[in-house]
Amino acid sequence: MLDFNQRIVAPSLLAADWSRLGEECHRAIAAGGDWLHLDIMDGHFVDNISFGPNFVKHVRNTVADAYLDTHLMIERPDQYVTEFIEAGSSNITIHIEPEYDVEATITKIKESGISAGLALNPATPLKLAEPFLKKIDILLIMTVVPGFGGQNFMEEETMPKVAQAKKIRADKNLNFHIEVDGGITPETASIAAKHGANILVSGTGTFKADEMAVSIKELRES
Ligand code: DX5
Ligand code: ZN
Repeated sequence: MLDFNQRIVAPSLLAADWSRLGEECHRAIAAGGDWLHLDIMDGHFVDNISFGPNFVKHVRNTVADAYLDTHLMIERPDQYVTEFIEAGSSNITIHIEPEYDVEATITKIKESGISAGLALNPATPLKLAEPFLKKIDILLIMTVVPGFGGQNFMEEETMPKVAQAKKIRADKNLNFHIEVDGGITPETASIAAKHGANILVSGTGTFKADEMAVSIKELRES
């Protein structure tokens, strides 16, 4: 049985210094990061390009035992998911908004033996995700419009969805974690956790903090 009260802090490598990627991965884990979050952006689904499967593979080779939480912000997850599985992802989260077969892609991820997540942009209603909730391990409620780090947490647009997802999970006896991503600080983490989120992604708040271990502890205890 999954423990939805277990707080998981996932530093996002988007905010790391990529010229020292290996050291940055080890630094995040030594500072108490539970997972490493990898933001894949294709310049189509979002207005930014980040990195691809080779980057994930490099991270996997650097930290063999780390849990790699891959977040695909791309237009055709169905076409690229196999590459991200083979690169060593522990979880792959796909967005619901683009036009492709979401159900078949979740099935493909699950059949490879790793966990599957489904992500919703701030403007996307939770209702669209309902048909998939019984198949997924993680529901990612984006708390900013995806594409860039360092944006502000969108409380009003997103917290009702977190609370609603928690209620549906209890009512239907389902088994997914609720993850939030974007603008997460100790203050906003506490708001998100109160509504029902237990996985906290943070880029700026971890890699760019003065003391990463202190900020991860604050996120965990917020
Ligand atoms: C948003 C990305 C986030 C981002 C979070 O497009 O999906 O994971 O890295 O960054 P911060 O914590 O800086 O808001
Ligand atoms: Zn992300």
